[in-house]
Amino acid sequence: MSNPSLLILPGDGIGPEVMAEVRKIIDWFGAKRGLAFDVEEDLVGGAAYDRHGTPLADETMARAQEVDAVLLGAVGGPKYDDLDFSVKPERGLLRLRKEMDLFANLRPAVCFDALADFSSLKREVVAGLDIIIVRELTSGIYFGEPRGIFEEGNERVGINTQRYTESEIDRVARAAFELARKRGNKVCSMEKANVMESGILWREVVQKVHDEDYPDVELSHMYADNGAMQLVRNPKQFDVIVTDNLFGDILSDAAAMLTGSLGMLPSASLGAPMENGRPKALYEPVHGSAPDIAGQGKANPIACILSFAMALRYSFDQGGEADRLEAAVNKVLADGVRTADLLAQEGVEPVSTAQMGDAILAALDAGL
Ligand code: NAD
Ligand code: IPM
Ligand code: MN
Repeated sequence: MSNPSLLILPGDGIGPEVMAEVRKIIDWFGAKRGLAFDVEEDLVGGAAYDRHGTPLADETMARAQEVDAVLLGAVGGPKYDDLDFSVKPERGLLRLRKEMDLFANLRPAVCFDALADFSSLKREVVAGLDIIIVRELTSGIYFGEPRGIFEEGNERVGINTQRYTESEIDRVARAAFELARKRGNKVCSMEKANVMESGILWREVVQKVHDEDYPDVELSHMYADNGAMQLVRNPKQFDVIVTDNLFGDILSDAAAMLTGSLGMLPSASLGAPMENGRPKALYEPVHGSAPDIAGQGKANPIACILSFAMALRYSFDQGGEADRLEAAVNKVLADGVRTADLLAQEGVEPVSTAQMGDAILAALDAGL
């Protein structure tokens, strides 16, 4: 049988820097665990625009549809600020999500013990935290029509449309309930049913899916603004949060700071199962291209490395190997190895992106 295939799209800014560390980890699994992947690399975002004049070439899109999983670094940066909206780097990523129909974006926020003091919140609020946000990723205000900037009278108007069909809500709700059954068996759905019709429909459909097929899972509903407050007040009250595209984007960045750094948060974007029973999938850190630190070897590669761990778990049925990788990250953090974003104390020298990757490799070796 041929090896599973991986398409790697490092992208822009710190994307290629953190992805270089993931490449080392992938090679390690091939050499030491008999888990070889057929890896190909291509361009996305500004890097693709520079080469092809588009943030995602059609050939790259086609390969993404064929491979077993896509791994993406980050896209965007100030160099591309003045580009026409239709060719901005972010459009490449949005096209991948939309055309692969990756409707369920899993964004875990786990506070590693060694980092409980690094969060901007008190240790007792975040220690032991293990929650996951399921963000709807292919609809809502990100894609709804009408959209655009139009002339209206003697001024312009900017329009975006929040739009959700019942089936779109239904499928992401199912993804959240399925996930909850494998964890704490609790789902909190967040919307603004008090002001938005799409929120009313969201709440109704989530409740219906629950009552018909997942009555064993504990379900609650919360307005998303209250949800944001509760996430910083007492995040451990949550297990799985399911929410729409825009609220999920914002809430997951807020959740990042519960873990110590945005540089710690991985994600998996999953679609419907393919013929082989596995979901179409794209794995990427939650963070962006971090222009302020790009090119300096300062980026934390852990979010991207943990995204590969999610690929092992969700695309390749290698939960044990994913545990192994997560344990290596845990060990390195427990040993006090820190990239600059994780430094809260005076007198501790930060390590570089590559040194962090090497430390994780050494921990993997030590665990054999
Ligand atoms: P960002 O996530 O790139 O950076 C926010 C802050 O977090 C910066 O101070 C940055 O230095 C820090 N940071 C992020 N990742 C880090 C890491 N791994 N290690 C250490 N520090 C890290 O968000 P932004 O500045 O709002 O956006 C910059 C660009 O990235 C924009 O073009 C934006 O559209 C794009 N972006 C892309 C993605 C993606 O590709 N999925 C996600 C978010 C933003
Ligand atoms: C994310 C990013 C993207 C989003 C951008 C870069 C399109 O912020 O993945 O969280 O808004 O979804
Ligand atoms: Mn975001």
